[in-house]
Amino acid sequence: MSPDEIRVLLTKAKSYEGVSTSRALPKNADLHGKVVVNLFYEDSTRTRASFRLAASRLSADVLDMSASGSSVSKGETLVDTARNIEAMGVDIIVCRHSQSGAAIQLAQATDCAIVNAGDGQHEHPTQALLDSYTIAKRLGRDSDFDFTGLTVAIVGDIGHSRVARSNVHCLTKLGAKVILVGPPTLLPGSFDGLDCEMSNDLEEVLPRIDVINMLRIQFERLAGPAFPSQREYTTLYGLTVARMKRAKQDLVVMHPGPMNRGLEIESAVADGTNSVILDQVANGLAVRMATLALVAGQ
Ligand code: CP
Repeated sequence: MSPDEIRVLLTKAKSYEGVSTSRALPKNADLHGKVVVNLFYEDSTRTRASFRLAASRLSADVLDMSASGSSVSKGETLVDTARNIEAMGVDIIVCRHSQSGAAIQLAQATDCAIVNAGDGQHEHPTQALLDSYTIAKRLGRDSDFDFTGLTVAIVGDIGHSRVARSNVHCLTKLGAKVILVGPPTLLPGSFDGLDCEMSNDLEEVLPRIDVINMLRIQFERLAGPAFPSQREYTTLYGLTVARMKRAKQDLVVMHPGPMNRGLEIESAVADGTNSVILDQVANGLAVRMATLALVAGQ
């Protein structure tokens, strides 16, 4: 997406805000008559639920599908599954898959709109969009979604993180400076070509940032130990109350979830006044409503 396209989407999300969270307001009819299928081959709480609710708030018909309980368990391929769903008159497929490139593969194999809800270690575009939306709302930049002058650190398991990659693209396009922070074993060279600073030293980075996005250590994707011990990881890279004293007083604290409480983030920080973690979840609804409406041609 271009910077202008991102701003169009975030502005549209703003227009949906009341409808996304308040059941006192009537549903919006922008997707009336459309069919949305959530095709999730990987577990999810936030993304699946918010796409489901977003489609529902826009009056679409919604079908939830997962690998277990479908013919995927009998060996049907991703493309065959999508083509069969499409044959039933589907307009949008929201896909999460463990394989990088799954979404683009479906986009090439079908005629319906495909929304990437996370593909392997590659991208998680709507997470990045809702993260930027949340930053803009918290810092009063939601009139123009211009992040010039802001510095954002993304900390932790960068190497396995589709959230990090999508956030780097989105934040830099909106004008922010991005610093990726983590142990050398979790800061891969594949991020070298992206327009961001890399650091192994959170203590040094902390005083000069406006926003910190703490990533989950993805134990399920680690081939072997990436750091000597969890205690050592927390000592060097955990966001603790003690470490927050080095940060700007109004530092915006984010986490895409699910959190490893006590490892990458201390509970008192996750639940503290600097935290916008539940705002991220709430804003995900409006951002996903905007995503679905725009790919449906609204
Ligand atoms: N942030 C995120 O993608 O969470 P889920 O895996 O629960 O959807």
